[in-house]
Amino acid sequence: MQVEALNAVVVGAGTMGTTLAKLMAAQGVSVILVDTNRHVLETSRLSMGESAAVGFASELTAGQHPDFVIESVTEDVAVKQQVIAQIEASVADSSIIMTNTSGIPIDEIAANMRLPQRFLGTHFFNPADIVPAVEVVPGSHTQASVVETACRWLKQLGKRPAILNTCVPGFVANRIQHAVMRECLALLERGVVEPEALDDIVQYSIGVRMALNGPLYQRDLNGLDTHLNIARYLYPDLDARDKPAALLEDYVAQGRLGAKAGRGFYRWSDESRAQHQAQERESLQRIIKIATQHAKENAS
Ligand SMILES: NC(=O)c1ccc[n+]([C@@H]2O[C@H](COP(=O)([O-])OP(=O)(O)OC[C@H]3O[C@@H](n4cnc5c(N)ncnc54)[C@H](O)[C@@H]3O)[C@@H](O)[C@H]2O)c1
Repeated sequence: MQVEALNAVVVGAGTMGTTLAKLMAAQGVSVILVDTNRHVLETSRLSMGESAAVGFASELTAGQHPDFVIESVTEDVAVKQQVIAQIEASVADSSIIMTNTSGIPIDEIAANMRLPQRFLGTHFFNPADIVPAVEVVPGSHTQASVVETACRWLKQLGKRPAILNTCVPGFVANRIQHAVMRECLALLERGVVEPEALDDIVQYSIGVRMALNGPLYQRDLNGLDTHLNIARYLYPDLDARDKPAALLEDYVAQGRLGAKAGRGFYRWSDESRAQHQAQERESLQRIIKIATQHAKENAS
């Protein structure tokens, strides 16, 4: 289904902005991708292929009337506030403005906005043109009709918008991801398991199951009484620190930043990273197809 002729602006042409523009262009939305870094813009343009629907610009131009603007710049509240101010100064009052923040509270980003009622969080996942979920996060000033319009558009783009009742730091996905990673790092620090074994256990148990069912649906299948019995003896032993693990601080201080730096928990070469990236898009699409089919079969 092609989306009715709409115009959008995406500010920030990095990892997320590029795949957001790809998503929209594929659905017939006319999109302008803006980034102050000309090198980033050029890289984005090259990765986009020949898409007539995407325009590239190094700054916002005044007097635009896009239906939607998505801010997807660096995850820094001051930078985002500045970019939102530029967006508000450039686009019509009727444009809906979204932020793709991974979890900065919406009211903080909107603190200096003139019209915060047309602003909300829409947290896409990487790559935005493939992963279906979008966390939709209203701020305390966001109008209900703005949330409705944004969700309708996201569905037309083929996404699965899920609305939060209340904005909390990290929203839902990053809170869960960080709770999982806090325990993973604690297990490594305690010497309970090696990184390869931990990845194997999680990927081929909880991981494969969660590709089919959300955690609550899955627990229903397992039995809540069993879950409670385990929770009673286990929680006192789980990691509950309110600071990042020393192991993580050490790795980052040493420049072990992960695949992009050649070393994180594993060693990476340019080839191994490129090979992973080349396979990931297609594999993700296949997993999403299986998950969607599984959900349909369960519903029928
Ligand atoms: N990478 C992910 O997996 C992911 C997933 C979901 C959400 N996000 C969120 O999406 C946003 C963007 O993340 P990313 O990974 O694409 O970052 P990125 O670093 O790849 O891209 C950010 C871009 O913003 C540009 N930028 C900075 N200031 C600007 C300005 N004033 N005007 C125009 N452009 C400006 C930078 O030049 C850069 O190209 C962040 O809020 C991030 O938390 C990231």
